[in-house]
Amino acid sequence: MKCRALIFAVATAAFCLGFGSAVPEQSLREAAQGSGLLIGTAVRPAQFSEAAYASTLAREFNLLEPEDALKWEVVHPEPQSFDFSQGDQVVDFAFRHGMSVRGHTLVWHRQNPKWLTEGNYTSAELAEILEKHIKTVVGHYRGKIFAWDVVNEAFDELHPGTLRSTIWRDQPGIGLAGNGNSYIERCFRWAHEADPHALLFYNEAEAEVVNRKSDAIYAMVLDFRQRGVPIDGVGLQMHIANLHADVASISANIKRFTALGVQVHITEMDVALPVDADRNPSQADLQRQADIYGQIAAACLSHAGCAAIQTWGFTDKYSWMGSHSKQTQGAALLFDRSYRAKPAYEALRDALEEGRR
Ligand code: G3I
Repeated sequence: MKCRALIFAVATAAFCLGFGSAVPEQSLREAAQGSGLLIGTAVRPAQFSEAAYASTLAREFNLLEPEDALKWEVVHPEPQSFDFSQGDQVVDFAFRHGMSVRGHTLVWHRQNPKWLTEGNYTSAELAEILEKHIKTVVGHYRGKIFAWDVVNEAFDELHPGTLRSTIWRDQPGIGLAGNGNSYIERCFRWAHEADPHALLFYNEAEAEVVNRKSDAIYAMVLDFRQRGVPIDGVGLQMHIANLHADVASISANIKRFTALGVQVHITEMDVALPVDADRNPSQADLQRQADIYGQIAAACLSHAGCAAIQTWGFTDKYSWMGSHSKQTQGAALLFDRSYRAKPAYEALRDALEEGRR
């Protein structure tokens, strides 16, 4: 831990040397103040009643995003009914602690309710359903959610550069199958109508570096900007596996997107580690993980248009990773399962203290 306070006061020195509590001398949100970067995390409102969860969250972050609470299966469980109870809890927590909120996500191919995926709707019906969904959800949070992941993961993994086949695009699609990314454009226009002041993002996985997928997104964003389609940003998820991050390529990618006049948010960062049967990583891997967090933060901070860094959860106690990797991967976040700050936390805070260069 850096102990800059040593130069200011003996009392502070005693604290830093361990005579005080183990609470770090500057939180992430305090460290980010100088650069104006938003520092955020995905949250699960069911955990707000856990004291350590809530206090760590309130102390460290100034940006929240519901991990699952605004996905279709939660917020639109029946054709004619919306359930904003979980999303409202997130917005309320954020409001009480002076935080901004990102919304995730209006259009995705996963976590959709059966009534939607198995409804055998026509294209015209699906368009009506999607427009109503977007306008109702964005409208409900008008003025409260400052940025939305309007469309998430629309590009394909197996055929890089092409759009994924989904109900939105062509099963049955919303009347625009075979017409490129037109459905995405319609979603951005609907969201903009519902809240003209919200920042509208396209969010994607595995497009952090310059590659065929990010090339295709770049072409779409360029086209949207040239034609006045209301897009304000690109979300780079940043789920890092195998302790490998090509930071130079990530930085070049951020540079080219921000040069288009859109913001970049790092939206879902975590750095997966191999874990043993007790779900513990090695000390060496924890340090390598810290280096990656620090390097990615520095890369973001080096571009004025990179405006937010968000992690996908903050404590290893609650992370999508374990259940999605049969518990072989984990320990991907900033705090361990007992809410102790990890080396990754300190590396990230050091980068935030360093600020924009
Ligand atoms: O809703 C059921 C609940 O009824 C049941 O009791 C429970 C039992 O396990 O499962 C619940 O569903 C889970 C759901 O999250 C809500 O908690 C699913 O099993 C689980 O698979 C689902 O995982 C989410 C995953 O998206 C789905 O693909 C993760 O929490 C969430 O972190 C993850 O987030 C995605 C981003 O949205 C987009 N980018 C990738 C990222 C990681 O996969």
